[in-house]
Amino acid sequence: MTLTQCLTIADLKERARRRVPKMFFDYADSGAWTEGTYRANEEDFHKIKLRQRVLVDMTNRSLASEMIGERVSMPVALSPTGMTGMQYPEGEMLAAQVAEEFGVPFTLSTMSICSIEDVRSVTTKPFWFQLYVMQDKDFVYNLIDRAKAAGCSALVLTLDLQILGQRHKDLRNGLSAPPRFTPKHIWQMATRPAWCMGMLGTKRRTFGNIVGHAKGVTDLSSLSSWTAEQFDPQLSWKDVEWIRERWGGKLILKGILDEEDARMSLATGADAIIVSNHGGRQLDGAPSSISMLPRIVDAVGSKVEVHLDGGIRSGQDVLKALCLGAKGTHIGRPFLYGLGAGGKAGVRQTLEIIRRELDVTLALCGERDVKNLSRQNLHRDL
Ligand code: FNR
Repeated sequence: MTLTQCLTIADLKERARRRVPKMFFDYADSGAWTEGTYRANEEDFHKIKLRQRVLVDMTNRSLASEMIGERVSMPVALSPTGMTGMQYPEGEMLAAQVAEEFGVPFTLSTMSICSIEDVRSVTTKPFWFQLYVMQDKDFVYNLIDRAKAAGCSALVLTLDLQILGQRHKDLRNGLSAPPRFTPKHIWQMATRPAWCMGMLGTKRRTFGNIVGHAKGVTDLSSLSSWTAEQFDPQLSWKDVEWIRERWGGKLILKGILDEEDARMSLATGADAIIVSNHGGRQLDGAPSSISMLPRIVDAVGSKVEVHLDGGIRSGQDVLKALCLGAKGTHIGRPFLYGLGAGGKAGVRQTLEIIRRELDVTLALCGERDVKNLSRQNLHRDL
């Protein structure tokens, strides 16, 4: 299937599977342990049914909205994803450029291959930066300052990775950072010649935000032990305070899946929270994000902007999340599949597919503006 023949996110995923070395494709396409939560994230969207309306004026539709006060052409941001530059060379730089073209936010991960400065050098508008709080606080201060210096317009603070969940596929594939070069891995790469050529053509093949910045991390082997030990298991609500102070700008808390945590987040003064279970990559057995969204919106939606990520695979899913009270949505794997399927053009394809599906669904639900969507657009009983 050529890129232009890809009509759905599922098509892009299949094309990516054939173009990205298995260990990196699986890294994107995996969840923790049984992958039950990962599957539920996608499946629960299908349980929600839309109200079809007829004979209403469907002209002049608008998908434009605002997320944390920033104007967006549709309320869909690109999620922070680690090692994106391994799906496609310089993946973070390319995805950030496409997000800018589309007028949607791009979020750069702490664990990205391209650095904050790399992404800054190819974009003209501010992007968002995602922070993992590491035990080495000097490194964290420095990251916050670098994000500020690059003009990032929001800090996305991830709360649900105090310790790493476990993904069987990654263990079986022997995925490591940096990658190992066993015969199996070399074979996986050699059978993806376009990917290999691209990787040979770039110098960005390691964690750009870390190597050369974190104390003692000067090369690939010191990086490996550093990342394994650095996530902070003692991260607490108190830490959110000093992070917010040091950052001084818009703050988004990512990884809230419980009403109680949502209420506690209010005291931090964050601008938004993202209802998320890390795409089913952390606590397997947790409920899907979409199933928790209505309760969290009911608990705190009048006091803080609520966003959602996890399991969005179409514009219809975006619309369902908006109906259930999300002010914005975020997509991870859909844009990674696009990237793997065709680099920059593939990410464009991802966003175009989602935009088209959102637009048509909006119309067929009898609405003209995404900002007017509500639970009224859904069937209450199945
Ligand atoms: C992630 N996610 C993630 N989140 C984060 O805060 N920092 C990170 O570095 C990463 N890395 C990462 C890598 C990969 C390969 C995936 C798939 C996900 C989680 C991500 O931001 C988001 O929460 C989920 O991807 C949303 O679910 P979907 O859209 O992938 O179903």
